[in-house]
Amino acid sequence: MGSKYRLLPHLERVFAEIGGETAVDAFSGSGVVSYLLKVQGFAVTSNDFLNFPAVIAAATVQNSSVRLDQDLIDTICGPPADDRDFIQSTFDGLYFTAEDRQFLDSAWSHIDRLTGHRRNLAISALVLSAARKQPRGVFTFTDGTKYADGRRDLKLSLREHFRERALDYNATVFSNGRRSRARRGDVFEIPDTTADLVYLDPPYAPPSDDNDYIKRYHFLEGLSVYWRDVTIMANTKTKKLEKRFTPFAYKRTIEDALLRSFEHFADAGAIVLSYSSNAIPEAARIRDLLGKVKPSVEVIAIDHKYSFGTHVAAARRDVSEYLFIGRD
Ligand SMILES: C[S@@+](CC[C@H](N)C(=O)[O-])C[C@H]1O[C@@H](n2cnc3c(N)ncnc32)[C@H](O)[C@@H]1O
Repeated sequence: MGSKYRLLPHLERVFAEIGGETAVDAFSGSGVVSYLLKVQGFAVTSNDFLNFPAVIAAATVQNSSVRLDQDLIDTICGPPADDRDFIQSTFDGLYFTAEDRQFLDSAWSHIDRLTGHRRNLAISALVLSAARKQPRGVFTFTDGTKYADGRRDLKLSLREHFRERALDYNATVFSNGRRSRARRGDVFEIPDTTADLVYLDPPYAPPSDDNDYIKRYHFLEGLSVYWRDVTIMANTKTKKLEKRFTPFAYKRTIEDALLRSFEHFADAGAIVLSYSSNAIPEAARIRDLLGKVKPSVEVIAIDHKYSFGTHVAAARRDVSEYLFIGRD
């Protein structure tokens, strides 16, 4: 999900230089940056307004000791605990295979009996299984078969994925000696406003259109709550969830949203913002906005290749990713 995976070495350097004990990752997404901060020894507050990022951060960042034992993984992959069929009936013929959809219902029949970090780990492994099996990891199309190119991730059944992904998540669990936490909510409601370091990686407002995370990740969000308390737009082909408004996705509201985020964290030790050069507003404007709360603003441009779509030659272009670092 626009994951900052490739930027991690740059972020690691910047975070180490800033230093301190407490850090906030306000838009956690895949959770990789929160995890990096935990590895670097911070007490981390990880936040996202979607549920599945919050569950992943709970399992990998807040959790410091609980793992899924092999018996439990076997049970989740075994016969169902009840006859639920919500996923099979709602997504009949869409995404994955019939066997995979049956597994998702069956896995949830066991996950519903779990609590705490066992539940968070199992949901994370299920979400990651679905993300890896769906081509490009986005749920804007329902028939992935045209992408079947022999890649292992697309060939494994979701049950086989789950066994592997559960072990992957088990391997992430460690304690850095501090207490971290994961929360689900709006950036403007994060209570830890005085952390030593605040990392902001909001959605980018593209010059046209909007940046709609739910459109791409609705299946993962629904799966993370077994579609409870969410609304499926029944008339859509993808059976996506209703859009969740965020002021960061629109060029009309982005500047105000950025400024309000900076003001919210004005008392933090340092604010680090990731932003794409391909988005609105431009770097000079962001520097001004951040400068309103942090007098010293450093801008680092990081070039990387970014791939658009599947037509390699036509669709690659250079974009810069900027890091803005605001300090007192
Ligand atoms: C660019 S992604 C973050 C990617 C993340 N740094 C990573 O490496 O995976 C932006 C995230 O912001 C979340 N988000 C959007 N609007 C938000 C808001 N108002 N408050 C909190 N989170 C929000 C989205 O759900 C999405 O996960």
